[in-house]
Amino acid sequence: MKPSDFTPAVKMKSYACQRRTPLKHHNLFLTDALETLAQNAEFSENEGRSVAFRRSASVLKALPHVVRAMDELKDLPCLGEHSLRVIKEILEDGTSSEVESTRQSEQFQAMKALTGIFGVGVRTADRWFREGLRSPLDLIHTGQKLNHAQQAGVQYYKDLNTPVTKKEAVVISDIVEKTVKAVLPGAIITLTGGFRRGKEVGHDVDFLITHPEEGAEERLMPKIVNCLEDQGLLLYQKTTVNSYLESKDGPARPASNMDRFERCFSIFKLEVDSETHAEGSLSNSCSTHHSGSTWRAVRVDLVVSPYSQFAFATLGWTGSKLFERELRRWAGQEKAMSLSSHALYDSKQQRYLRANSEEEIFTHLGLEYIPPSERNA
Ligand code: CTP
Ligand code: MN
Ligand code: MN
Ligand code: MN
Repeated sequence: MKPSDFTPAVKMKSYACQRRTPLKHHNLFLTDALETLAQNAEFSENEGRSVAFRRSASVLKALPHVVRAMDELKDLPCLGEHSLRVIKEILEDGTSSEVESTRQSEQFQAMKALTGIFGVGVRTADRWFREGLRSPLDLIHTGQKLNHAQQAGVQYYKDLNTPVTKKEAVVISDIVEKTVKAVLPGAIITLTGGFRRGKEVGHDVDFLITHPEEGAEERLMPKIVNCLEDQGLLLYQKTTVNSYLESKDGPARPASNMDRFERCFSIFKLEVDSETHAEGSLSNSCSTHHSGSTWRAVRVDLVVSPYSQFAFATLGWTGSKLFERELRRWAGQEKAMSLSSHALYDSKQQRYLRANSEEEIFTHLGLEYIPPSERNA
């Protein structure tokens, strides 16, 4: 008997926000391949193609078993002709020639290296690639003009491409918690992003900050940033003010998917235990101080939300990115609603739907509640 004969048919829902997607799943050998093609599509700014590959990968992440044969896939949603062809090749040959040649290609490798610099997006990386640049070192050697973010990105390149551990995230949580509460007693600080979904490592640490007294959180970020700077904890920061407050146009739907909270994209200077930190570390930013302690650079995102929007902000900043995208698509296409990290608008009733918890938002959307640890779509 084939393994598939033992596998009960899985009725898979078609939106990722209707499914439970654990962090650890059974088909990494397939999802890695599809996500390589998704990333390559992003590098050529082909969003439709990229999302198609990401949706395919996400369906395989939600399967409770290893895929061994093509017939196990026949009732699954979202698997397009191209994804199926790639999966088939991997099941038959162990690898996909398209995926392998993508990974080998000079363009893919250069785009990975260049977009891996903090502050560098696909457009900039592509322009540099066409000018013959391949790596952060090439930028330095050719004296490229860099903005402040990119300068920090190049300077701390190695540290910022070293995964942040859960342990480091906890240390940073303590620092952020103490600092924010010193600036605004009673403030609530939530760890969001990948660590809230249970990831062991991340590319940064994400925090959402609010205060039960609506309005107490207004213009809080500059005070937090000052306090962090006074403690010598920031290597870089860029604060963006709340464009709601600035424009005074109320809780309208944002024009883009980008939310408009007061936020700070920063790089923390994190003290690292000298005993656990390898001596003679190659890290370009690690320096030995008088006390023999060392430090490393870590990306930290801080977001401030009014209390009334906190549930939406929490949902919006927990991710994964595909899960968020699917939630908004579900809201729009299936419910005639518009979901953002600020609010949920019901077009039929022509009103905003309030929520004090993520659970309430799922209920408004007619979705079964999915806990953060199962939003790893
Ligand atoms: N996000 C957002 N607006 C941005 C950046 C991020 O709303 N300008 C949201 C993303 O949609 C995601 C969450 O913030 O839900 C965290 O994003 P990010 O830190 O990029 O990803 P993680 O899921 O935390 O993964 P990683 O471990 O790589 O940081
Ligand atoms: Mn195709
Ligand atoms: Mn993150
Ligand atoms: Mn982030």
